[in-house]
Amino acid sequence: MTISTTARTEQPMASPAALSVPGETGGPARRRLDLLADRGSLVELGSGARHRVSAFNMQSRRPAGDGVVTALARVDQRPVALFAQDSTVLGGSLGETHAAKIVRIMEWAGRSRMPVVGLVDSGGARIQEGVGALDGYGAIFRANVRHSGRVPQISVILGPCAGGAAYSPALTDIVIMRRDNAHMFLTGPAVVKAVTREDVSAAELGGSAVHSRRSGTVHLVADDDVEALSMVAQVLSYLPSSCWDDLPLAVPALPQDMPEIPSNHRVAYDVRRVVRGIVDRDSFLELQSAFARNLVTGFARLNGCPVGVVANQPSVLAGTLDLRSSEKGARFVRLCDAFGLPLITFVDTPGFLPGTAQEEGGAIRRGAKLLYAFAEATVPRLTVVLRKAFGGAYIVMNSRSLGADAVLAWPGAELAVMGAEGAVDIIHRRDLAQEPHRRDELIDGYRAQAMSAELSAERMSVDEIVRPEQTRSLLVGALDALRGARRPTFRHDNLPQ
Ligand code: HXC
Repeated sequence: MTISTTARTEQPMASPAALSVPGETGGPARRRLDLLADRGSLVELGSGARHRVSAFNMQSRRPAGDGVVTALARVDQRPVALFAQDSTVLGGSLGETHAAKIVRIMEWAGRSRMPVVGLVDSGGARIQEGVGALDGYGAIFRANVRHSGRVPQISVILGPCAGGAAYSPALTDIVIMRRDNAHMFLTGPAVVKAVTREDVSAAELGGSAVHSRRSGTVHLVADDDVEALSMVAQVLSYLPSSCWDDLPLAVPALPQDMPEIPSNHRVAYDVRRVVRGIVDRDSFLELQSAFARNLVTGFARLNGCPVGVVANQPSVLAGTLDLRSSEKGARFVRLCDAFGLPLITFVDTPGFLPGTAQEEGGAIRRGAKLLYAFAEATVPRLTVVLRKAFGGAYIVMNSRSLGADAVLAWPGAELAVMGAEGAVDIIHRRDLAQEPHRRDELIDGYRAQAMSAELSAERMSVDEIVRPEQTRSLLVGALDALRGARRPTFRHDNLPQ
């Protein structure tokens, strides 16, 4: 057992190569852990572990630690279990011993109910160890799954991350990736070229742009190691140490000014400004901000209490729900529910995006995931309808019928099966064929008879119609009243997206 005395804040990051001790695990990996952990809190376990493989002359390469540092530590004074792979030792590749160390530290986390943070920098399964290496990954995947929804799991991608090294992060709750010189893929460019003849660079195949914008695998992108590790502390500040623990509370702060949003329902605006006008100042941490941007998800604090925010984004695809945003939202809702974060949903959506591509892509089964996640959630759930909530998207976005604890609507909000124009063209088709000039009048009539927030309030689909500036205090009051509804117990795991 080794106790480190270096400080998180006082260590400038040096390049991994400059710090490595040839043949021994440590340099860069230990250095990164020191940056993450509170001063003097790091307790390393398994520093003397070595593999026992002799094939391929491996007996001559038996570095102490076997390419991974595993440790217990504190981050912002809260206990965490950590592992950091060292790509300067056997490429950070994972053999049986390396895997056993990671599984062991995860078991510590499960038993002591604390988060697991993995710093990933690995060429994947150690080729020389064959099935032993594959089984090592199998054991890690199983440990990821067995701890899912029990303790928070965070992965930080800081270098190559190939094969099994990429699958394990996908099973964890939050993935943070360094912008440059970090890659995630199942098979590297050389294998891709050999199998498909496709000539592709590592960045094109699995760089941070790919995973933050297109695959949706990565939640946060950092400029360098230091920023990535500070993001870990930031993410942990919203999460309990386990599903059995209370949420970490912060000092309440007033929000930013509430923006005015366009009253014309067809004019776009950035819903994140509304979110910032309601939650505590500087507390909003958006996740997957470049992926499925038509749905905004992120952590925030409301009067000091961590919450999960889900919001339609009218400035992207008019705020419709589609394939990607359904899955993005579903996983986030399940993450919040697993760890007891109340959900605040901001609704401004004309519905699900229609069309062949969406239907063929699985709009029904993927949309069902979001619906399922909200309906299943037992945490306090509050909804604010900002301007419009139409059709299936109205139901899916944490409606009263799906079990929202409170639904608020802003003045002028409309809730309906569909927009007035489309509705009138269907239900008044015959009338309009005779008297096309009556369309505007019929649209006004439909609005008055079927869409207004007041009508929804009459039938209690909306609890209160509130002005924008009243919204925060009502949400805070509702959360306070729902304090007893939080059940600190295991709810469910957090399936991959
Ligand atoms: C053993 C490995 C290794 C591996 C790298 N090394 N990957 N050793 N097993 N998987 C070793 C190299 O031999 C080299 O050793 C050192 O690490 C550094 O590797 P380089 O290639 O020089 O580094 P770099 O150019 O940075 O490239 C990194 C890389 C590349 C992109 C990760 O090494 C690579 O493509 N590796 C193979 C990736 C892969 O396909 N892994 C298996 C995936 S299958 P020396 O001694 O020369 O310094 C898998 C199964 C699980 O993981 C699937 C679960 C679903």
